[in-house]
Amino acid sequence: MKEGVSPERLLREAVKARDNAYAPYSSFRVGAVLVDGEGRLHAGCNVENAAYGPTNCAERTALFRAIADGCKPRSFRALAVVGDAPGPVAPCGVCRQVMAELCAPDMPVVMGNLRGEYRVATVAELLPDAFSLTPERRKEEPT
Ligand code: THU
Repeated sequence: MKEGVSPERLLREAVKARDNAYAPYSSFRVGAVLVDGEGRLHAGCNVENAAYGPTNCAERTALFRAIADGCKPRSFRALAVVGDAPGPVAPCGVCRQVMAELCAPDMPVVMGNLRGEYRVATVAELLPDAFSLTPERRKEEPT
């Protein structure tokens, strides 16, 4: 893993983040952790809603939290996600699109479960040929 953060350590942190999940409808608790450009960790969990649609996945919670805390888009080093599933938890399509917007295409995503099984794929591997607007359409380019 880039800059020496091991997948195992990231998954351990994601398991801790999972403790805060609010998942009364699905009971599927998910934790995520995002490593920023300075090596700081930003935790996320899924936050569900009675109307279902407003539910936020753990990955997006971590990403939005880091952006709100002042991290620059595409400066992140890695993202890990974990849940209690038979195999590694694969991010949903909405989260993949958000990763394509806010993360570098070669950023590794560690997908794991509570048994310690995991696999790693880049953002571009998770969402090949992602939709994006041309840079000149972005009114506010990240600095
Ligand atoms: N969920 C995540 O938080 N991340 C994923 O990668 C997959 C799904 C959440 C959304 C919802 O709260 C619950 O898991 C069941 O879909």
